[in-house]
Amino acid sequence: MSSELSPIDKAKFVCAKRAAQFVESGMRVGLGTGSTAAWLVRCLGETVRNEGLSIKAVPTSTRTAELARRVGIEVISLDQAKWLDLTIDGADEFDAELNLIKGGGGALLQEKIVATASDRMIVIADIGKEVETLGAFPLPIEVIPFGWQTTQALVEETLVSMDVLGRESTLRMNGDAPFVTDEGNHIIDLHLKRIGNARQLALILNQMPGVVENGLFIDICDTVVVGYGDGKVEVRDINDGTVAKEQVEFGETQNLFSDLTD
Ligand code: A5P
Repeated sequence: MSSELSPIDKAKFVCAKRAAQFVESGMRVGLGTGSTAAWLVRCLGETVRNEGLSIKAVPTSTRTAELARRVGIEVISLDQAKWLDLTIDGADEFDAELNLIKGGGGALLQEKIVATASDRMIVIADIGKEVETLGAFPLPIEVIPFGWQTTQALVEETLVSMDVLGRESTLRMNGDAPFVTDEGNHIIDLHLKRIGNARQLALILNQMPGVVENGLFIDICDTVVVGYGDGKVEVRDINDGTVAKEQVEFGETQNLFSDLTD
């Protein structure tokens, strides 16, 4: 199986596999959403089935919940868990301070709630997600459907006075209809190109009526596990300033991802 993977999928797999080693029996674990997080869920499912890892997991989307149950992970709600030991999730961009853009998969609201309710957040990402300055990836904001066009106009107007390079925004679509999040909201993608002050932008966006949450994760991520296509990983920790370089073996993965759909 591993020989059939593209370099980018290998990178996603190895960072997910390495991050899965941070999960210990007895933990309450937040499970992210997206293609990289799906590799993690598969890895954890295998450890649950083969090695008796005992965890309770809080997924960040219906997609992840379905996958987690399918691979044998016990799923509970965040209110049942109340607080989590660890959340592991993907990202669309991360910078040197481990600030993030998330929400490419439309799950940013649950992802931010779950990550914030965790002792530690670990991001898993291929090296292509690293940026000097956030903003090349369109920043998703979740908006309530009521008056979304008015909210969009207000956001664009507010961007005039912000330190960003672009101000265009687009409603995310799912075919011919607006994309609908797990909470029944819409996503507007902000094409900012470069975000000069991500902390300030995150605060201002969240003050606007109609905006439920934005995809900037500031001071939330503790550790990033970066994956490379040749199996190399780097574990970078923002709290203790360490960078550990390791090699992950693809090993016995033949059946691990045979029905992976995410
Ligand atoms: C989901 O809403 C996102 O925040 C994902 O975590 C992010 O888009 C990364 O997804 P991939 O791992 O598929 O790139």
